[in-house]
Amino acid sequence: MDFLKRLFTKEDIRKNLERIDPEKIPKHIAIIMDGNGRWATKRSLPRTAGHKAGIEALRDVIKTCSNLRVQYLTLYAFSTENWKRPEEEVSALMNLLVYYLRNEIQELNENNVRINTIGDISKLPQAALVEIEAAQKLTRENDGLTVSIALNYGGRLEIVNAIKEICRKVKNQEIEIEEIDERLFSDHLYTRGIPDPDLVIRPSGELRISNFLLWQIAYSEFWFSKIFWPDFNGKYLVDAILDYQERDRRYGGTK
Ligand code: FPP
Repeated sequence: MDFLKRLFTKEDIRKNLERIDPEKIPKHIAIIMDGNGRWATKRSLPRTAGHKAGIEALRDVIKTCSNLRVQYLTLYAFSTENWKRPEEEVSALMNLLVYYLRNEIQELNENNVRINTIGDISKLPQAALVEIEAAQKLTRENDGLTVSIALNYGGRLEIVNAIKEICRKVKNQEIEIEEIDERLFSDHLYTRGIPDPDLVIRPSGELRISNFLLWQIAYSEFWFSKIFWPDFNGKYLVDAILDYQERDRRYGGTK
C-alpha cells in the first residue's frame, strides 16, 4: 500500500488509507454528482458556478480512483430529464463538458484513463460530440481506469431501448425468445462489457436513485453523504470505500 501513502499527506487520510483492504477495492464505482446548485446558492453564486466547482471534485475523485486501482468509474453528468433546466444552465453544462475534455484529456491519457460515455449522445451539441469522439479515440487503448460519463442518460429509456433492439432481433430471427436471459439483456445496455457497480455514491443529502443505472444496481451497495458534490474529494471516496468494505454482500444468499 506504499503507493497509496504517497498520495496523501494529511495524517487522518493516511490513517484511513492504511485501513483499506487492497483485496476488496470495488471494481466499479458509480457516482451521482449532486448538490452543485445548492452549493452555489449557499454562496450567493449562480448555479453554474456550482457545476464549475464540481469539476475540481471530479478531478480529485478520478485521481484517487486511478491510484486505488478502481477499474470502472461511472459519473452521472446529464440525465434525460436535465433538458428541463433553463436553457442557460443546459448550455453552461455542455460548455463545461467541452472545456473539461479539451483541457484534461492529455493528463487523463497520461494516467492511462479510458474515456467512455453512456446515454444517447446524438442529442448533444456538435462541439461536445467532437470532444467526446477525440477523447475516446485518444484513450481507446488505455487499460487503467475506465471513466464512463453518463450524458443524456436515463435508466428507463436505456431499458426500453434494449427491449426494442432485442424485439427487432427476434423479429429478424437473429435470436430465439428462449435465448433471452439476464446476460443477453445486459449486453444490450449502454454498459455492455462493464461489470455492474459495486458501490453507488450519492452526495448532497438526497436519498434516491433518480433514474440512474436502474438495471445495473440490483446488487450494488449504496453510500450517501450530506456533503455537496463540489466539496467532495478523495477523502470522502476513501471513507465510502472503507464503509463498503465492511458490508456483507450476500446477493440474496446466506453468509
Ligand atoms: C447535479 O447537481 C449535477 C448535475 C446535473 C451536473 C453535474 C456536472 C458536473 C459535476 C460538471 C460537469 C461534468 C463533466 C463530466 C464535465 P444539481 O445541479 O442538481 O444540484 P442541486 O440539486 O443542488 O440543484
